[in-house]
Amino acid sequence: MLKERIERQNKFIADLPNNSITIIFGGSEIRKSADEAFEFQIDYNFFYLTGINQADTVLVFVKKESKTKTLLFIQKFDELKEKWTGIRLKVEEAREISGIEEILFVEDFSDELTKLINSFTNVTICLDYESAANYGNMNEFVSLSGYQKFLKENFSHLKFIDISQNLKLLRMIKSAHEIEKIRQAIHNTNLGLQAILKQLKPNKYEYEMAALFKYIIALNNNAKLSFNTIAASGINATILHYPHPMSKMNDGDLILFDLGSDNDEYKADISRTYPINGKYSEEQKKIYEIVLNCNKYIISLIKPGLTIKKLQEEAKMFMAKELIKMGLISDLEEISKYYYHNISHHLGLDTHDISLRELPLTKGNVITVEPGLYIKELKIGIRIEDDVLVTEDGSECLSLEIAKDIEEIETLMKG
Ligand code: GLY
Ligand code: MN
Ligand code: MN
Repeated sequence: MLKERIERQNKFIADLPNNSITIIFGGSEIRKSADEAFEFQIDYNFFYLTGINQADTVLVFVKKESKTKTLLFIQKFDELKEKWTGIRLKVEEAREISGIEEILFVEDFSDELTKLINSFTNVTICLDYESAANYGNMNEFVSLSGYQKFLKENFSHLKFIDISQNLKLLRMIKSAHEIEKIRQAIHNTNLGLQAILKQLKPNKYEYEMAALFKYIIALNNNAKLSFNTIAASGINATILHYPHPMSKMNDGDLILFDLGSDNDEYKADISRTYPINGKYSEEQKKIYEIVLNCNKYIISLIKPGLTIKKLQEEAKMFMAKELIKMGLISDLEEISKYYYHNISHHLGLDTHDISLRELPLTKGNVITVEPGLYIKELKIGIRIEDDVLVTEDGSECLSLEIAKDIEEIETLMKG
């Protein structure tokens, strides 16, 4: 893994402009209340390049006359802080994880950077303008917004450029190691869904299922959720990101789950729609089969060269034709009444992973396939979402193990 991390750093450095300093912030905690922070989320680009998952960290690449230097800033040892909030990374550990020899302290970051800038006559500062570490941090000196202000006020001759695109191009192609992390996240997600299938009953509450999922995935190495679980029964499922799963689950309704387990920052993103009482009604079956067949059709199309835009057009056309046959709509355009989101996004460290989504798919991309139909008047919302790897000549559905056929689901619910 260390070898791969160093390769990533080298690939990234190779495309940086000459006479430049690139700064990537790990981010810092965001205050929640007087003495508590929200759960810390490492900046994914920082994590991708360093493997380090700790707040108040900064990665710097210097490229001068085509020679390069990499610096990593971490927090100084602080006995009192360790007594309150735990052990921090030591210099030697940071070196071992990141493969970066030169480790400095973030407390000296401004001084060190000033020295570096002053060693150039002309220098370009490369920043990741799309980084989430960009806003809301408690420590403004280790965030992009705070730091860019400091640089602009103190140095008049700096040129700034955005290097977010370079990171997108790298992260869009997943290595075998990354694909394995995603596979494990998906497998853990399936354990959660299997537990749900056993417990799903009328008159229980949506939040019981969401809580069960969180509990089951946490049994694996305290895995986090990829994102807040969507557990939306009946008409609630027509709200795409239904935020508060509070309703009682009614006999005869469906429930849509959109959820995922994290695995060492890599995400699964899966949607399944189950009958609360264990059996789909004839009407529900008809709509379900349209979404399921669309899901399978789109997966069958995926191969290098295709765009996500094309997949979206195909999905719309596929479902529109079926709804016209059923008499629910009368022309193709009307599909947007019942299908109002995109078919796919890249998946990886982030659920909606950074990407240049207009580019044709290439080997190593991991994307979701998530058709849905949301028919308020029938109290039906169905989404079936799988995670798919683009291979040399086609695709591999990474979430094949997660039941999605009607019979399979009904059998699992009986068991
Ligand atoms: N869970 C968000 C999505 O499916 O894109
Ligand atoms: Mn999803
Ligand atoms: Mn998704």
